[in-house]
Amino acid sequence: MSLNRPLNEAELVAALDWYRAVGVDLAVGEEPVDRFAASAAAPRRSSPIPPPAGGNAAPRIVASALQRGGETPPPAPAIITSLTADPAETRALAAAAPTLDALRAAMDAYEGCTLKRRATQLCFADGNPEAEIMLVGEGPGEQEDQVGKPFVGRAGQLLDRMLAAIGLDRTKVYIANMVPWRPPGNRDPSPEELALCAPFLIRQVELVAPKFLVTLGNVPTKSLFQTGNGITRMRGQWKELEIGSHRVRSLATLHPAYLLRTPASKALAWRDMLSLRQAIEAEN
Ligand code: URA
Repeated sequence: MSLNRPLNEAELVAALDWYRAVGVDLAVGEEPVDRFAASAAAPRRSSPIPPPAGGNAAPRIVASALQRGGETPPPAPAIITSLTADPAETRALAAAAPTLDALRAAMDAYEGCTLKRRATQLCFADGNPEAEIMLVGEGPGEQEDQVGKPFVGRAGQLLDRMLAAIGLDRTKVYIANMVPWRPPGNRDPSPEELALCAPFLIRQVELVAPKFLVTLGNVPTKSLFQTGNGITRMRGQWKELEIGSHRVRSLATLHPAYLLRTPASKALAWRDMLSLRQAIEAEN
């Protein structure tokens, strides 16, 4: 169905909401491209064999669909491809930061991670840098990206309730993520993005020097426990990890976002929280 009138405000908002819900939160060009019109105009190929070099039909058709009234369309913005940045650079930047403030400033100034270009802002950390307990999540979601702090959305509210159940709150924990910029559409960070951002997280662990570290979900668990095993196997297990120069007793548990989708698993997370409380009590 096509409308022969501009969308009104409510329709535009509904369309944007729908895009956001399906993970489309990034514009790659100034002008929309009607791919349906382009493919309808394309000559049908009788064989799946691609056209010979030099006879590349599809891009020409897309280009002609873009032309309006003989005007040449503006060149498409360069699409930023995956990472070319070198983790050696983030390692050096992180190592040179003597304090959390210096680290935050270095990360804010760093331009090598493509995630940063699409994110609203750096999502550095929340909580108490003096805390004995550090929690590590995966990466900021939509609300974290807006606010600039980890775990402020629905998953964060559940995390707060999980902490409260064992007598903790954000004044007693420090919270950070494996990647500090939001992956578009809330996808998992890629291995390259994780490798690039890991030195920043590792330096945070060194500077906070917690006694206990809790990984939330698959991504931080696989990265920090250096395991290929998934979170359902790893959760509930304690291990002494060496993260940078800091040794820390570490526990893997389920991600609160997963618990929101799978409430039946909350009992497992509750066991992990009790295990954390016991470890803290034994220490103090
Ligand atoms: N999920 C995460 O892993 N981290 C956040 O900060 C928010 C949601």
